[in-house]
Amino acid sequence: MQYFSFPSSLAKITIFLIFSFVFASSANDTHEAFLECLTTRIPSNSTFTPQSIIYTPDNPSYSTILDSTTQNPRFLSSSTRNPFAIITPLHASHIQAALYCSQKHGEQMRIRSGGHDYEGLSYQSSVPFFILDLRNLSSISIDAKSKSAWVQAGATIGELYYGIAKTSLNLSFPGGVAHTIGVGGQLGGGGYGYSTRKYGLASDNVIDAQLIDARGRILDRKTMGEDLFWAIRGGGAGSFGIVLAWKIRLVNTPSTVTIFEAVRSWENNTTKKFIRRYQRRASKTDKDLTIFVGFRTTSSTDEEGNERISILTIVSATFHGSKDRLLQLVQKEFPDLGLVSEECTEMSWVRSIIHFNLFGDEVPLEVLLNRTLNFEMKAFKLRSDYVQKPIPDDVLEKLLSKLYDEETGEGYIEFFPYGGKMSKISESEIPFPYRAGNLYNLRYMVSWKDDGNITRTNMHLSWIKDAYDYMTPYVSKDPRGAYLNFRDLDIGVNVNESDYDYVAKASVWGTKYFRNNFYRLVDIKTIVDPTNFFKYEQSIPPLPPLHSAM
Ligand SMILES: Cc1cc2nc3c(=O)[nH]c(=O)nc-3n(C[C@H](O)[C@H](O)[C@H](O)COP(=O)(O)OP(=O)(O)OC[C@H]3O[C@@H](n4cnc5c(N)ncnc54)[C@H](O)[C@@H]3O)c2cc1C
Ligand SMILES: *[C@@H]1O[C@H](CO)[C@@H](O)[C@H](O)[C@H]1NC(C)=O
Ligand SMILES: *[C@@H]1O[C@H](CO)[C@@H](O)[C@H](O)[C@H]1NC(C)=O
Ligand SMILES: *[C@@H]1O[C@H](CO)[C@@H](O)[C@H](O)[C@H]1NC(C)=O
Ligand SMILES: *[C@@H]1O[C@H](CO)[C@@H](O)[C@H](O)[C@H]1NC(C)=O
Ligand SMILES: *[C@@H]1O[C@H](CO)[C@@H](O)[C@H](O)[C@H]1NC(C)=O
Ligand SMILES: *[C@@H]1O[C@H](CO)[C@@H](O)[C@H](O)[C@H]1NC(C)=O
Ligand SMILES: *[C@@H]1O[C@H](CO)[C@@H](O)[C@H](O)[C@H]1NC(C)=O
Ligand SMILES: *[C@@H]1O[C@H](CO)[C@@H](O)[C@H](O)[C@H]1NC(C)=O
Ligand SMILES: *[C@@H]1O[C@H](CO)[C@@H](O)[C@H](O)[C@H]1NC(C)=O
Repeated sequence: MQYFSFPSSLAKITIFLIFSFVFASSANDTHEAFLECLTTRIPSNSTFTPQSIIYTPDNPSYSTILDSTTQNPRFLSSSTRNPFAIITPLHASHIQAALYCSQKHGEQMRIRSGGHDYEGLSYQSSVPFFILDLRNLSSISIDAKSKSAWVQAGATIGELYYGIAKTSLNLSFPGGVAHTIGVGGQLGGGGYGYSTRKYGLASDNVIDAQLIDARGRILDRKTMGEDLFWAIRGGGAGSFGIVLAWKIRLVNTPSTVTIFEAVRSWENNTTKKFIRRYQRRASKTDKDLTIFVGFRTTSSTDEEGNERISILTIVSATFHGSKDRLLQLVQKEFPDLGLVSEECTEMSWVRSIIHFNLFGDEVPLEVLLNRTLNFEMKAFKLRSDYVQKPIPDDVLEKLLSKLYDEETGEGYIEFFPYGGKMSKISESEIPFPYRAGNLYNLRYMVSWKDDGNITRTNMHLSWIKDAYDYMTPYVSKDPRGAYLNFRDLDIGVNVNESDYDYVAKASVWGTKYFRNNFYRLVDIKTIVDPTNFFKYEQSIPPLPPLHSAM
C-alpha cells in the first residue's frame, strides 16, 4: 500500500480552502500554483526532472503530444478548448503527485490512455483542465503458463496482441479490432471484437487490476474489494480512479482461423434474403463465427458513362476454425450469402487483426506496435442501439435509403452480432448489461472532411439524429440502450452538481449504458469518491451527503 498524506478528516477543510483560493485568484495563478506543486512533489534525480513530463502550451511539443492520440479530428486542438497542461507520468508516484496537487488547487483532471473516446472526453472539456496522459506506462508481461498477463493502461491493444503472439500463437485476447485503442479506456468500458461471441468482452476477461483511488492509494483487487472491482470493469473506470494496469485472462485460440470479406450489392434480392436470415441467426449460430455487416453508398459509372450511386453490403467475418468447416457452416446457415472459397483465407489470429487494420498480409507483426492507424480518420459522430427483434424489411429499407442523403460513402450503418458466450453471462455480472436477448448492436456513423464549416458539421450531425430518431420504435426501449465505449453525449450529460436531482438527471444517460447496474455504480461511487473528484461530462455521480437535522 502506498499513501500520500491526505487524511480524509481534512478533506472538508481542504475543499473549503480550495474554493476560497479559486475566488481569490485568477485561473492562471491557480494553474501556476498547481504546476509548482507538481514540481515540488515529484523528486528530480540525476537523469530526471519533473519538467520533462509537464507540457504547457509554451512547450514546442505541446500540440504534437496533444493531438498525437486524438482519434476524432472533430476535436483537434485548434477547434477545441485546450488543456493548460499535459502530464505524462513515468511512475505511479507521479500520478499520485498529480492527484494530490489537483485536489489541493481545485484543478480538473482528464485521464487519457489511447485517446479513442468518440466524444474526446479524455482530452477536452468545457472547463479548464489538465490531461494525465498514460502513454509512457505501457509495459506488458505475459505468463503463458498461467494464461494471464499484466498490461499497463497506456499500452495499446495492438501492443498487447503483439506481445501475446510473440509468446504463443495459440493464445489471444478478446478485445477490439483497431490496434491503436488504449487498454486503459477499452477494458474499463467493455471491449468488443471478433472473439467476443466466443469469449465475452475484454472486460469479462479482467481478473485483477491496479487502481489509484481518490485518496491516492494504490489498490489491487483484494484491497479495493469486489464492489469497486466490479465497477471498473465496464462501468467506465475513470469515474472511480486511475487504472494503472489490468491483469487479464488469455484465451485458447486455434493456431489457424479463417476470415472472409464478401462485398455484395444491396439492390440484389439475394442480399436482402441473406440480411433477413442474418438478423435472426447471426447471434444464434456457432460461437466460433462472428459476422459483421456494414452498409455504405458507393459510386460507379455505367456503360454510358453516367455516375450511379448504390449501396454496398460489406460482410466480414472471423471463424475460429478451418476454411472447410467455415464453408460448410455458412452454406447451412447463410446460403444466400453465396460465400465462395476464394473469399476465405486461413491465417493466424494475430494476422487476422493485422488484416482488419487494413495492412497487407505480408507486413511484419511489428506494425501492431505503430500507434498510428493505417488509414486516415475523418471527423465523425457515431451512435449505437441494441436490436432485440429483427428490424422489419421495409424499415431497414427506409433506414438504408437515408444513406443516399449523405455524401457518397460518408454515412455508414453496421450490425455487430451478440449471442454465444455473451448470452451466458448475467446482466449484472459486470456493469455492461446487454447480454441474452440482444441480437446485435446497431451502429450509425457519419464522417466528413472537417474544414471548420459549422453549417456543414450540423448537417452531418442532423443526418445521424434523423436516422437514430427514425429507429426509435424498432430498437431496445425503457431505457433505449447504448454501448459505453461508443460514447455519445447526445443521450445526456451531467449538468449541475448542486442540483437536488443531479443523480436523477444522470440516470437518463446512465441507465442507457448500464440499465439497473447504474444504481449500483452510484452506490459504489458514493463510497469511494464521495466528493466527486473524478468527474466529467458522463461520470457516475455520487449521492449527495446526508444533511444533519438543524
Ligand atoms: C478507430 C476506433 C476503433 C474502435 N474499435 C472498437 C472496437 O472494435 N471495439 C470496441 O469495443 N470499441 C472500439 N472503439 C471504442 C473504444 O473501445 C473506446 O473509445 C475506448 O474507451 C478507448 O480507450 P482509449 O484508452 O483509447 O481511450 P481514451 O480516450 O484514452 O479513454 C476513454 C475513456 O476512459 C477513460 N480512461 C482512459 N484511461 C483510463 C485509465 N487508465 N483509468 C481510468 N479511466 C481511464 C478516459 O478518461 C475516457 O473517459 C474504437 C474506437 C476508435 C476510435
Ligand atoms: C499564465 O499566463 C502567462 C502570461 O500570460 C503565460 O505565459 C503562462 O503560460 C500562463 N500559465 C499557464 C499555466 O497557463
Ligand atoms: C529517476 O526518476 C525516474 C522517474 O521517477 C525513475 O524512472 C528513475 O529510475 C530514477 N533514476 C535514478 C537514478 O534514481
Ligand atoms: C513516452 O512516450 C512517447 C510516445 O509513445 C515516446 O516518444 C517517449 O520516448 C516516451 N518517453 C519516455 C521517457 O519513455
Ligand atoms: C495450437 O492449436 C492447434 C490447433 O489449432 C493444435 O494442433 C496445437 O497442438 C496447439 N499448440 C499448442 C502449443 O498448444
Ligand atoms: C426483387 O424483389 C422485389 C420485391 O420482392 C421484386 O419486385 C423484384 O422484381 C425482385 N427483383 C429481382 C431482380 O428479382
Ligand atoms: C445476387 O447475389 C447472388 C449471391 O451473391 C449472386 O449469386 C447473383 O449473381 C447476384 N445477382 C446479380 C444480378 O448480381
Ligand atoms: C506508422 O504508421 C503510419 C500510418 O500507416 C505511417 O505513416 C508511419 O510511417 C508508420 N511508422 C513507422 C515507424 O513505421
Ligand atoms: C458551409 O457549408 C454550407 C453547406 O454546404 C454552404 O452552403 C456554405 O457556403 C459553406 N460556407 C463556407 C464559408 O464555405
Ligand atoms: C446550479 O444549481 C444551483 C442550485 O439549484 C444554482 O444556485 C446555481 O446557480 C446553478 N449553477 C449553474 C452554473 O447553473
